[in-house]
Amino acid sequence: MPKERILITGAKGLLGQKLVEVFRRESEYEIYSCDLNGRDEGSLSLDITDHQKVVEVVGSIKPSVIINAAAYTNVDKAEVERESAYKINATAVGYLAEAANIFGAKLVHVSTDYVFDGIKGHYTEDSKPEPINYYGKTKLAGENLLIAKVTDYVILRTQVLYGFAPGVKTNFVLWAVEKLSKKESVRVVDDQVGNPTLADELAFAALKVCQRNATGLFHVSGFETVSRYEFVRQIAEVFSLDVSLVTPIKSEELSQSAKRPKNSSFICLKAQTKLGITMPSIKDSLSRMKRQMKTSGAVQQSTKR
Ligand SMILES: NC(=O)c1ccc[n+]([C@@H]2O[C@H](COP(=O)([O-])OP(=O)(O)OC[C@H]3O[C@@H](n4cnc5c(N)ncnc54)[C@H](OP(=O)(O)O)[C@@H]3O)[C@@H](O)[C@H]2O)c1
Repeated sequence: MPKERILITGAKGLLGQKLVEVFRRESEYEIYSCDLNGRDEGSLSLDITDHQKVVEVVGSIKPSVIINAAAYTNVDKAEVERESAYKINATAVGYLAEAANIFGAKLVHVSTDYVFDGIKGHYTEDSKPEPINYYGKTKLAGENLLIAKVTDYVILRTQVLYGFAPGVKTNFVLWAVEKLSKKESVRVVDDQVGNPTLADELAFAALKVCQRNATGLFHVSGFETVSRYEFVRQIAEVFSLDVSLVTPIKSEELSQSAKRPKNSSFICLKAQTKLGITMPSIKDSLSRMKRQMKTSGAVQQSTKR
């Protein structure tokens, strides 16, 4: 049987690296990873905002599935770098969708809880998006362009994505571990709640999407809803760091350029039933990340007392 070709964009990002890892373990797939600069041997260079290149790459590989893990992810900077954020998170998703349609590929795309205003929480796939920051608006525009341009698609909306992989930008957990390891105090909001999600688990959900040939919109996140403050307390516990360094504050005390939804918690029943996904607890996910950091040598450095 010929292998199914899977093209992964943004393959050097956190989720991108996890996707490559998860799919490479499965013998039925042949993986083509692309990142902005083709940084590794075996990795192709693909800027998803380059329309012609997107068509060229998809046309030459002819994948059965394209998984888009490329994104503009800096929520605060997106308020000022609007053009760039829109181009990557919306316009380029349209290019991928067009190419997927032309060459008969399924497009699996990743979106965010920031498409919601965070007033009610417990959002399902049927809840009405109402983004309150520019990043959320670009991600919603990306979803809409995709739906308009490609018939075979999956959108995985996730939130508070974290994890460890070599060379990735910092994320909430890496930030907290670094600060607490240096015995620096951290002030964390206790009025923003959500469902932290280990990137490895989201990558596994993408694998399930392909194995089950699923279509449509799915909410995929950890099952526990916690405030950022409670999350850092759990991080401190799992990484054996000093929890007394963590102080709760209110969102108003942070001078973040972009507004954040207060409660963007998800209901993930559809992913559980249609994709067969069961998420581990926050503590188990953090422990898994800690083991990965330990293996790579990153944890000794960051949790040294
Ligand atoms: N992080 C979260 O809390 C969170 C929450 C909800 C949803 N999400 C979504 O989850 C997905 C994955 O996020 P992540 O945390 O893995 O992000 P990430 O680590 O920032 O990875 C994104 C990757 O996309 C690349 N990229 C940026 N512009 C590109 C372009 N024009 N062409 C090709 N590649 C480009 C980046 O390269 P450079 O590093 O070189 O710029 C980076 O490698 C995104 O769709 C994001 O919106 C994230």
